Formats: sequence, C-alpha cells, structure tokens
Amino acid sequence: MRVLVAAASRHHGTREIAEAIATGLIRRGFETDAVPVEHVTTLDGYDAVVLGSAVYMGRWLGEARRFAQIHTSALGMMPVWLFSSGPVGPADHPIPPGTPADVPVLMRLTQAIDHRTFPGRLDMRRLHFAERAAVRTIHAPEGDSRDWDAVDRFAAEIADELRGAHVAA
Ligand SMILES: Cc1cc2nc3c(=O)[nH]c(=O)nc-3n(C[C@H](O)[C@H](O)[C@H](O)COP(=O)(O)O)c2cc1C
Repeated sequence: MRVLVAAASRHHGTREIAEAIATGLIRRGFETDAVPVEHVTTLDGYDAVVLGSAVYMGRWLGEARRFAQIHTSALGMMPVWLFSSGPVGPADHPIPPGTPADVPVLMRLTQAIDHRTFPGRLDMRRLHFAERAAVRTIHAPEGDSRDWDAVDRFAAEIADELRGAHVAA
C-alpha cells in the first residue's frame, strides 16, 4: 500500500509536518512519499492521500485547494485525510482559534475521513514585509508551536485505519 502526503507550504513549516507524517507512516510499514502539492501531477499508483496546507488569513493555500478540485474523482476512490497547519501560541489558547474556512468544503469534496489542525511556526525572519505587518495586527506570538507528538499520533491513527481497511478488503 502506497501513501502520498502532499502539502502546501510558504515557509517550510507545513512541509516539515508533512515529512514527519510520512516518516511516521514509513516507520509503521507503509511505502510513503512526502511531496509539495504543486509537484504532484497524478495520483496513479497511490492507495491513500494525506493532504495538508498552511493557513493564511483563515484559508488554505490556493495550490492545495486546486489540488483537491483537480483530483476530486481520484480522491473519492481512496481514503483521504486532511490537515491544516496554522495557529500559534499555547495549545489551550491558539491564535487564531477555530477551523479554517475551507475545511468543511474540502472535507465534502475529498470525502476525507478526518481533518486535524496542528499548531504552526511563525519565524519573523522568514516572513515578507506585508506578512510581518499582518502578524503584528493579530498579535500572533512568534515561535515554533509545532507539536511533533500530535503529528505522530495522527500518523498512527492513519496507519491503524489503513491496516483495518486493508484487512477488510
Ligand atoms: C500573514 C500571515 C497570516 C496568517 N494567518 C493565519 C490564519 O489565518 N490562521 C492560522 O491558523 N494561522 C495563520 N498564520 C500562521 C501560519 O499558518 C503558520 O505560521 C504556519 O505554520 C505557516 O506554515 P508554512 O511555514 O508552511 O508557510 C498566518 C501567518 C502569517 C505570516
């Protein structure tokens, strides 16, 4: 069984989460590729997809949304999971709170099994001028809030589900 972990990322934080999910799946016995979503041209050869995006101004990045639209029919034929990487700050008080606006639509479009929001990383040195200004307006704290244990637990859940599906098939 071969799994694709495809993610859209501006400043590499989400890309590293995608790579950690792929590592977790490989460790649990699944052949897995982590690929930037804009480099994926076909889903041929994959049996499951994990699709993720960084969240900017409440939305997924355009390339991840386009991926879901272009591959809707192929995604409907296989197990799909979604993840968002966005909020920063403490886990019990994420900034901003809540689910990105696109997620309910993308869940329906891809018929995803589940969606997870992971805290992200804000490194001011990596941001463009306009991004820095936007971050200051919402008072988002700088730092790396990514929770690698939560990311690995997500990989474990996906692995369990895929094993179950494989046995049932
Ligand atoms: C200009 C800007 C706007 C952002 N807007 C949101 C947002 O609306 N919701 C959210 O959860 N995170 C938001 N974030 C936080 C990013 O999603 C977070 O830093 C993420 O880890 C970035 O991923 P990347 O390094 O893969 O691009 C924003 C960050 C910046 C710089």
